Amino acid sequence: VFLGIDIGTSGTKTLAVRADGTSLGSASAEYPLLTPRPGWSEQEPRHWADAAVQTVRQLVNDGAFDPSEVKGIGLSGQMHGSVFLDANHEVIRPALLWNDQRTAAQCEAITEAAGGREELIRMVANPALTGFTAPKILWLRDEEPDRFAQLKTVLLPKDYVRWTLTGVLETEVSDASGTLLLDVRNRRWSDELIGKLDLDGGLLPPVHESAEATAELTPKAAEAMGLPAGIPVVCGAGDQAAGAVGNGIVRTGVVSAALGTSGVVFAHSDAPQIDPEGRAHTFCHAVPGKWHVMGVVLSAAGSLQWFRNRLCMDLGDSAFDRITHRAEEVPPGCEGVYFLPYLSGERTPHADPHARGAWVGMNLRTDRAALGRAVLEGVTYAMRDSLEIIKDLNVPIGEVRLSGGGAKSPFWRQMQADIYHEPCAITNAAEGPAYGAAILAMVGAGAHASVEAACDATISVTDRIAPDERAAATYDALYPAYGKLYEALKPHFA
Ligand code: XUL
Repeated sequence: VFLGIDIGTSGTKTLAVRADGTSLGSASAEYPLLTPRPGWSEQEPRHWADAAVQTVRQLVNDGAFDPSEVKGIGLSGQMHGSVFLDANHEVIRPALLWNDQRTAAQCEAITEAAGGREELIRMVANPALTGFTAPKILWLRDEEPDRFAQLKTVLLPKDYVRWTLTGVLETEVSDASGTLLLDVRNRRWSDELIGKLDLDGGLLPPVHESAEATAELTPKAAEAMGLPAGIPVVCGAGDQAAGAVGNGIVRTGVVSAALGTSGVVFAHSDAPQIDPEGRAHTFCHAVPGKWHVMGVVLSAAGSLQWFRNRLCMDLGDSAFDRITHRAEEVPPGCEGVYFLPYLSGERTPHADPHARGAWVGMNLRTDRAALGRAVLEGVTYAMRDSLEIIKDLNVPIGEVRLSGGGAKSPFWRQMQADIYHEPCAITNAAEGPAYGAAILAMVGAGAHASVEAACDATISVTDRIAPDERAAATYDALYPAYGKLYEALKPHFA
């Protein structure tokens, strides 16, 4: 039995699986998100630690497995968050999260200290974004100097949970990539950038590969969870890399398109493929010696949720089904109506917090069915933008594995195959990052020889969707116009 613990933003989910991938049950626990000011987003690290213990305890109490059979635990979590610890390893202030927007000034300062955006991308493979960890450390130095004076260690969310469970301070390459302080090419801290930012490299814990078993449950944590002491705890991964492992995105050519509230396109690559323009993120993968390229669409299925909540209140509980059903009556290309899904700004490809949503091209025939279809098409074009960057970087695309809410509707599945103009697939693995963390635990504990072998043994394709060539040709012809609309409207976004 292996446990995967995912420290998410709305809650923690723990999953128990056998080495063949069979699920034995899952448990979750929620905790609050603190927004002390507009644009700020924080959480109390102890809530994560408590939730990790509580969810395991619940599975043990439910009799989901025999505690003596647990052979390994893997950790996954929301990326980029900053846990600040003092000399006694006490938390100094609530952690700043991945979606916190307070660090625009620090991002500029980092770019300048690095010697410009190109130099920064050369050192750490990515440009400075407000969500990343390094600007958060500089924010503490700039805005809360008394607390900064106490600072001895900076940890990522799941690594703080590891500390509470094992007493070991460390991280791994996939999550460390999102700090903006990792030399992603060489999979070690960038002493060069750390020096230019005048930070103490001793603040950062040692960095390992994701599938290494480097720690063990302490007797105290084991007792609280209802498990035997000494169970190996495997490094694990940031939630995106863990989710990708959990969907078998561990070989070149296999790409994932996950349509949740936000949308993520994730491609495995054998070498670090760095976008000189910094449009997509290049991070280390949780597969040893491999990398990934990732694009993030901030309002993906979130745009459809917005459409339902604001403009389809009358449709009741079955609103999503009715919106997609009506949208099927409108032809591909939506009779010239486009939707830009930038309702909360955009990360990939524009890195523009000021971008905004728009419908363009309406006429007297345009009705709610067409507006709904335009939302679905616009979100899918936004995902295609990330796929195009991946292709530009010469990362091949052989198959796009669909997941998230957007993969549930057969209509949106087919639209994705048509707009991506790529063969798409669905797998049996729907459990997300916790499942990937459990797979990494299997590998670290020796149940499978490699991450790839573990994925082969546990994940299989259950459905394939080929593009409809006629619809795909229509979308191919319209896609360039979609791209031009952002450029045309950009000067008008406040
Ligand atoms: C990845 C990212 C989010 C967080 C929260 O870059 O910002 O996916 O990991 O889940």
